[in-house]
Amino acid sequence: VISLTGLRREFDLHPDALYVNAASEGPLPRRAREALLAVLDRKVHPFRLGTEEYFQIPLKTRELCARVAGCRPGEIALTGSTGGGVNLAASALPLDPGDEVLLLSGEFPALVNPFLLARQRGIVVKEVRAAGKWPAPEDFERAASARTRVLAVSHVSSSTGFRHDLPSLGRLCRERSWWFVVDAAQSAGAHPLRFEEDGIHILAAPGHKWLLGPTGTGFAAVRADILEQLPPPAVGWMGCLHNAAQFVSSYPPFDVSRFPGGRRFEIGTTPYLALAAWNASLELLLETGIEVIEGHVGSLLDRLRTRLQGSRYSILSPEDPEHRSGILSLTGRFPAKLLLLLNQRKIFPGLRGGALRFSPHLYNSLEEMDRIAAALRELESAKIEADRKGENL
Ligand SMILES: Cc1ncc(COP(=O)(O)O)c(C=O)c1O
Repeated sequence: VISLTGLRREFDLHPDALYVNAASEGPLPRRAREALLAVLDRKVHPFRLGTEEYFQIPLKTRELCARVAGCRPGEIALTGSTGGGVNLAASALPLDPGDEVLLLSGEFPALVNPFLLARQRGIVVKEVRAAGKWPAPEDFERAASARTRVLAVSHVSSSTGFRHDLPSLGRLCRERSWWFVVDAAQSAGAHPLRFEEDGIHILAAPGHKWLLGPTGTGFAAVRADILEQLPPPAVGWMGCLHNAAQFVSSYPPFDVSRFPGGRRFEIGTTPYLALAAWNASLELLLETGIEVIEGHVGSLLDRLRTRLQGSRYSILSPEDPEHRSGILSLTGRFPAKLLLLLNQRKIFPGLRGGALRFSPHLYNSLEEMDRIAAALRELESAKIEADRKGENL
């Protein structure tokens, strides 16, 4: 468990509200708000804006994202959302009509829909169902055919919290020469990512969840050795070699030669207000250490599990520590009502796929897990009592 004393001061935590929903939105740290306000003041008087906002801020974001993803800064493209990166994969990977993409059923639409759109080009989407309780590499092997070209997964499922073993999936992709695409929306910032070691070709993540940034931020990591083979699905001026610095004296010739790195996939002027804030959030996460955060969040959810043992709630998330994540989902009989009753007690988890979803982060404490468990236990007793009397809770 992290020593929280200094860390909690990094956030303007509400004195009463207990927030455990980083899987939906991460809170903006104080230093990120300050960074945002500093650039905002310059935006109010735009004569104060300069190349810092246009070029240095996004440059820093790419460097920080590379550290989060375990790749090189030149492999990062700023996208604005997870969907941005997945679209890049679905539209730029060299696929022919009849080529197949494997996707598990129940995946979040940001990962699925770009590939469904690629059906226009004759790409075949194969929905893979797990044979056992949890998905395994064999499920993909069984579903594959000679035409399979892509395996796309969410590192962590946003509903159950199941975390894939990326090294095994990466090995499978390498053996079969499949492209390996990973949606890291529920893992980037919560678990260390090893883009290069795990053999991932394209990884996509949003900034506004576990990475504690504003919305409209996100990145894609694209492997250096394939970067230049991928035709950019869209182009503006920002990813092109003839860049702003040169426009002062004259406009460039007609030429769409692009930067060699991931930046070639970026289109226009960046959301530098959001990026300035996000940089501060990313620095806080990296200073703390993502492995440390992973351990801390793991201990918090262990505590919640322990405190709920023997209760009537059923935990939907995996038992096996290898597949656990920052998400713990559980069901009671009336999850929507339960959420409302928890909110009345100033506890704020999420609700996904008919289950309560708890996703604590670095600012949460063991005492808070005890408070959640106590509230759930109290609601359970109240429900049993109400049922006995034939009343509605
Ligand atoms: C697995 C997964 N992918 C993607 C997203 C978000 O996608 P985007 O960043 O495109 O809004 C979420 C958010 O809930 C998610 O859980």
